[in-house]
Amino acid sequence: PKAQKANQKSQNGLQPVASYKFAILGAAGGIGQPLALLIKMSPLVSALNLYDIANVKGVAADLSHCNTPSQVQDFTGASELGNCLKGVNVVVIPAGVPRKPGMTRDDLFNINANIVKTLVEAVADNCPDAFIHIISNPVNSTVPIAAEVLKQKGVYDPKKLFGVTTLDVVRANTFVAQKKNLKLIDVDVPVVGGHAGTEVVEAKAGAGSATLSMAYAAARFVESSLRALDGDGDVYECSFVQSDLTDLPFFASRIKLGRKGIEALIPSDLSGLSEYEEKALEALKPELKASIEKGIAFVQKQP
Ligand code: NAD
Ligand code: LMR
Repeated sequence: PKAQKANQKSQNGLQPVASYKFAILGAAGGIGQPLALLIKMSPLVSALNLYDIANVKGVAADLSHCNTPSQVQDFTGASELGNCLKGVNVVVIPAGVPRKPGMTRDDLFNINANIVKTLVEAVADNCPDAFIHIISNPVNSTVPIAAEVLKQKGVYDPKKLFGVTTLDVVRANTFVAQKKNLKLIDVDVPVVGGHAGTEVVEAKAGAGSATLSMAYAAARFVESSLRALDGDGDVYECSFVQSDLTDLPFFASRIKLGRKGIEALIPSDLSGLSEYEEKALEALKPELKASIEKGIAFVQKQP
């Protein structure tokens, strides 16, 4: 087994360079599975904990055969959620239902709000210091829900709660590079506001929403978080977070990430907006405000 281990490392070229524990809640889903695969390739992760209410055993068994450093474990059902989360440094939540054509993200609220609330309660109880990445839609409401839950539990750290809007940035970079005929390496478009495209939902025609591009985007955000935790002092991403950059309590902007989470919000992307951008920003604010308030009220009105 020793020789096998050494061989394994040299075969894939991945040395475990750090040992962060990582969990995905909703790991057997359309996003969860490819995200788990991408994170299985990270040399920064030593433990990959996969939780779902269904089908997660097979996903974990499958992934565990990849000869990369992290150990994969499966957890299923409420009774195993706590163990999944103990000691975890970064937890990503893509649990919940996706849209079908004709639906808005807000149409998912009634189901996903409760799922996110329950899962974040468990995060608060078992890994209150973890970076929490929320993917479940509507992100503009589920992040405020998570914040309220963490406040009620007395463990809210606004620097460690993130709505994942990396897909917006990934899309913007792709589209701008295509339109302007630029090399992707030269394009870096910050996306501000909230998480807002319907192209994939329509193309999938009832079979769900973005999963592969979302997993790619989420893996980028995870990798950035792990690098920040590991001491890299030059990590910037966009995310929907608690914010004082506008009059809204949560807002997506570029942030600087460090060992303790958000080190700074970057206001410069909001100055020098074109008239078109300025108008778009003002137009989105009422909808974003309503989504945030709906999320907060959902938790506060519960007995
Ligand atoms: P999916 O239906 O394929 O997977 C969801 C998974 O969540 C399933 O495996 C399901 O069993 C699991 N699940 C449901 N309830 C759960 C619970 N209580 N605890 C644990 N797991 C639970 O959906 P998907 O395509 O992976 O999308 C998931 C969510 O991500 C949707 O809400 C979707 O709208 C959202 N999404 C967000 C973005 C973004 O940019 N933030 C992008 C794409 C999709
Ligand atoms: C996306 O932007 O692709 C996701 O928010 C999923 C959706 O419902 O469109």
